[in-house]
Amino acid sequence: MTEINASIRFDQRLYRQDIRGSMAHCRMLVRQGLISPAEGKKIQAGLQTILREIEAGRFKIDLKLEDIHMHVEARLAELIGKPAGRLHTARSRNDQVATDFRLWVRDAIDRIDAGLLDLQKTLLRRAEEYAATVMPGFTHLQAAQPVTFGHHLMAYVEMVGRDRSRLNDARARLNESPLGAAALAGTSLPIDRTSTAMELGFDRPMANSLDAVADRDYALEFLSIASICAVHLSRLAEEIVIWTSAQFRFITLSDAFTTGSSIMPQKRNPDAAELVRGKVGRIIGSLNALLITMKGLPMTYGKDMQEDKEPTFDAVDSLELCIAATAGMVADLKANSARMQEAAGEGYTTATDLADWCVRKIDMPFRQAHHVAGSLVKLAESQDKPLEALTLKEMQSVEPRISKDIFAVLGVQNSVKSRVSYGGTAPANVAKQIARWRKLLAKEKGKADAR
Ligand code: ARG
Repeated sequence: MTEINASIRFDQRLYRQDIRGSMAHCRMLVRQGLISPAEGKKIQAGLQTILREIEAGRFKIDLKLEDIHMHVEARLAELIGKPAGRLHTARSRNDQVATDFRLWVRDAIDRIDAGLLDLQKTLLRRAEEYAATVMPGFTHLQAAQPVTFGHHLMAYVEMVGRDRSRLNDARARLNESPLGAAALAGTSLPIDRTSTAMELGFDRPMANSLDAVADRDYALEFLSIASICAVHLSRLAEEIVIWTSAQFRFITLSDAFTTGSSIMPQKRNPDAAELVRGKVGRIIGSLNALLITMKGLPMTYGKDMQEDKEPTFDAVDSLELCIAATAGMVADLKANSARMQEAAGEGYTTATDLADWCVRKIDMPFRQAHHVAGSLVKLAESQDKPLEALTLKEMQSVEPRISKDIFAVLGVQNSVKSRVSYGGTAPANVAKQIARWRKLLAKEKGKADAR
């Protein structure tokens, strides 16, 4: 029973939030006249001592004391004697753990958001550097149209931006206080839930005591956001794995983010990227685990809910590592611009530019222009040469109205320069998007400081 029942091995990570919650609760009890100021003082001092003991690694764990809440209370009794027994007035471990865990997830959200902001800044910096570096854009992992590396990196700035916006939404929904819901039904004692909510930085107390102790939406919501974010990081990681391969050679990573092989001296394995790609499995697994744990639990608290912490802790640890490793790799990578540009032209990637030229210059319907471009690709392919190596005569054999200025659009540089539609890959566009994001991120700084 002791082994299966105890959560202290993992929920000791809640100690800071637990002590913070107890301090707020204690001050409220004093204000409401439920305990005397002298008792309140002793409790506060005792809690301070316990905090210091834990931080110094001088706190003894006893499985029989089950969890962090009982450990703190038992130690408080050792330290200050009788008044310790008054701290749990109008409170239960059910609202206590719900409060602690909410505070913990909120802290994790804030740390992760800061990590993602750092990643965005790193991506922006590199995107600016490579705003005009041409590479092949892919669909189906087949060379499709030339794009710029800067534009590609900016796609991740957008993804991370949505991750952060989701974290922000979840934080707002999470930010209500369960404290004072007591076991499940509230209390007959004259407590003030609004004041503890405010003191703990919550926006308001939760309105339903049953929901307050039974709800784990905030952890589920966090885990689903973490999963989506991890998927984004994993997709970039996969690209890094592809780009660093000998077949692509688009980028290189330094030894800081690669490892050597014990047997093949030429190898430089992108382990950090592979692990970012790999860890997404446990993060999604954590979401899955908690969804399954919560499914079918009748109102209100059930001990099953003690299983909420390990997957959440593990997902937070994994995601924080993934974010840091990704930012590190993005800062570290060196693009092989010559190789990227060369690849950008392989696979007839300017065929669409050719079709667009026919639409623009000789007023051809796009479907027909698509057909003309297709025939020219076939012709070039049959002679095993790139589009721009076709002679004007050969082009005119397919469409007589083609003139020599068509050659201007066949180069990959001209191709990307021409993609000036909003959101397109033209270097001038990319520069504008970088400036827009810089402004957005600068504005945010004030918000974070206010918090
Ligand atoms: N260790 C428990 C948990 O993490 C704390 C709440 C226990 N509540 C109870 N009624 N036994 O969920």
